[in-house]
Amino acid sequence: MDDLMNMQGQGHVRLGSSAGQALTRRDGILKVTGAATYAADNRPDGLLHAVLATAGIAKGRVTHLDVAAAEAHPGVVKVYTPQTAPRLAVSPDEKIHPFVWRMETLTDDSVRYAGQPIALVLAETLEAATEGARLLAPRYETEAHGVTLDDAEPFETDTTAFGRPAGHSSGDVDAARATAARHVSTTVETSQQYHNAIEPHAITARWEGDRLEIDTPNQAIGLSKQTFAAFLGIDPSQIVLRSPFLGGGFGSKAILYGGQMLAILSARDLGRPVKLVLRRDQMYGPVGHRAPTRQALQIDLDAEGNIAALEHDTVTLTSTFDQFLESASNASHSLYAAPNLRTSHRGRRADVGTPGPMRAPGEAPGSAALEIAMDAAAQAAGMDPLEFRLKNYAESDPSTGMAFSSKGLRECYAEAAKLFGWAERSAAPRSMRQGRLLKGWGMGTAQFPCPMFQAAAHATLRADGSAVIETSAADMGQGAWTALAQIAADGLGIDIDKVEFRSGHSDLPDAGVAGGSGHTATAGTALFNAGADAVRQLAELATNDPASPLFGAGNAGVTARSGRLYRNDDERSEAYEDILARAGLELVRGEGTGAREGEPDRAMFSHGAVFAEVLVDPDLGQVRVSRLIGAFAAGRIVNPRLARSQLLGGMIWGIGMALQEEAVHDTRSGRLTNADLAGYHVPVNADVPMIEALTVHEDDPFVNALGIKGVGEIGVTGTVGAIGNAVWHATGVQPTRFPIHPESLI
Ligand code: MOS
Repeated sequence: MDDLMNMQGQGHVRLGSSAGQALTRRDGILKVTGAATYAADNRPDGLLHAVLATAGIAKGRVTHLDVAAAEAHPGVVKVYTPQTAPRLAVSPDEKIHPFVWRMETLTDDSVRYAGQPIALVLAETLEAATEGARLLAPRYETEAHGVTLDDAEPFETDTTAFGRPAGHSSGDVDAARATAARHVSTTVETSQQYHNAIEPHAITARWEGDRLEIDTPNQAIGLSKQTFAAFLGIDPSQIVLRSPFLGGGFGSKAILYGGQMLAILSARDLGRPVKLVLRRDQMYGPVGHRAPTRQALQIDLDAEGNIAALEHDTVTLTSTFDQFLESASNASHSLYAAPNLRTSHRGRRADVGTPGPMRAPGEAPGSAALEIAMDAAAQAAGMDPLEFRLKNYAESDPSTGMAFSSKGLRECYAEAAKLFGWAERSAAPRSMRQGRLLKGWGMGTAQFPCPMFQAAAHATLRADGSAVIETSAADMGQGAWTALAQIAADGLGIDIDKVEFRSGHSDLPDAGVAGGSGHTATAGTALFNAGADAVRQLAELATNDPASPLFGAGNAGVTARSGRLYRNDDERSEAYEDILARAGLELVRGEGTGAREGEPDRAMFSHGAVFAEVLVDPDLGQVRVSRLIGAFAAGRIVNPRLARSQLLGGMIWGIGMALQEEAVHDTRSGRLTNADLAGYHVPVNADVPMIEALTVHEDDPFVNALGIKGVGEIGVTGTVGAIGNAVWHATGVQPTRFPIHPESLI
């Protein structure tokens, strides 16, 4: 353990002995024994079951629903249609904050995408509600639809996801191109993907008078409470939102969707609790997805193989009624030393549900295309892919000119390349074999920004020396309960076994968004500060009390460790319990917040290097990833076990994105052909034979006081390109789209 801890980076705050330990998940036992309560497990008395009816056409109008047949079915209590559905207090298009999409609550009879909710049936049983929804037998007036990049309508916009600028330009790309030695042009498409959390979107909603209780899996409890309140026209204090566990989120549970709101509205209207659980097929449309992209990259090189100019243009889709655009070109902003850099995004509107954030939104597809383009450029320069990336290593952020807060990427390249055995690679495509299979080695660079949101926390030290820490963190399975408790224990200077963690409830201080890979940094900072605040109060009590051995030491003169305060000037110490007892206090409570102060003057990113080996059947085009090795520099690693698990998970998403994950429209009907886990493939154990993720030491004194960068999403970046480049190396066929189809390789 000592060695492990010594490898961990840090910011300017010294943590104690909890952070850095490879503890197992504190919620693990609850989950594997079934004791963890998920939203759909709640069953309040008098519960009504809700089932959505969804549109079978992509565009047009619902002309008829057989409401009478549905309501005549035994057990059916109510059918809501656009004519009868309860209304929101404000326009469904109200943008309360950047994490709000159009709140689709049966506001009119138009159909904007296949799978759109068109009615809600409430019944005494799930079976009756399901049958009621079937009996609605909708009839439609259809209009011509467009669901792909090719048949969608361009529109003008200057923003992408979350209002970020759609374009960037630094230097003079055209001038650099005019004098460049070589020009490499690459086009890569990525497919539309769905989050496929194993736990579907679910809600149990109950009103007690004008007080609303909601159980729903949620990545942003505080924001969501605000959103619900605003659309309902009530005060946030009237809402209790519980989200102790999420069975996966991947971005789709950071946004609130109309189905959840309909359940709340109908519970109020009918005066009974309502539960709505989306069916698997209903997860493909109304609750977000990753839109397809078509990316054009142009790299200009000088005679020595330096990048003279880099241009990255993305065309992507959004819905006809909202705005989210996958910001793929941003992946080129800060990774390679491009003195002249231009990026753009162009949006098109299709008859699909609104896309949203999913597993490294922007960065994942952007990195996939960029890394293929980088290998194309390396080939043009006659250089090894790793050598070419090192030659074009960015010492500062090319898009802003800012220094990096820290950047351990060179170490990542070196460590992962060594473990992989990259030096043994033979340069020519189709030159490596394993039996009759073509073997290919490829690599990619991983990068992900380090955002911070806003969080608050309480830390209470009790008379018996134990503590309660409180913040409404969302644990999607990533281990937030554990990593955050480790940080809190160190803030409090006590052993983690003495820490009780209260979370997942909207009455607790808001932990901010579990997204953008910024949750541990943000909520962790708040918790650490809350703990430190409680310790400060104890220190004040003791150092001002003549009966304490710490008397006169002064606040700066004591250190907290293992539930005791120690003088810095001699051996004397006192236990927290004794300080509280003598002061006659039951507890001291500390408060803390976490956020980034002011505008950053450094570029803040996690980095990594991913190396892939694939085996390709030369006759069938079947691709297997046989080895995948990543090394990551992500600042302080709070829990090596959980961090590795996050990184491996991200890399496995990369396998899925490179080779499997793809939702396919039937363009004639505008419907998805594979809206289920049988047709939409995600990696299973057999697809992941050998995988490893290392972390390299990285001290970051700028990213935040704890030096935490985040590990949630970076694993998917770099990986997709590494696999694509390995396939290219194996087969000689340059990938032009992800997932790579076998038939494109033979
Ligand atoms: Mo995520 S896509 O930041 O939940």
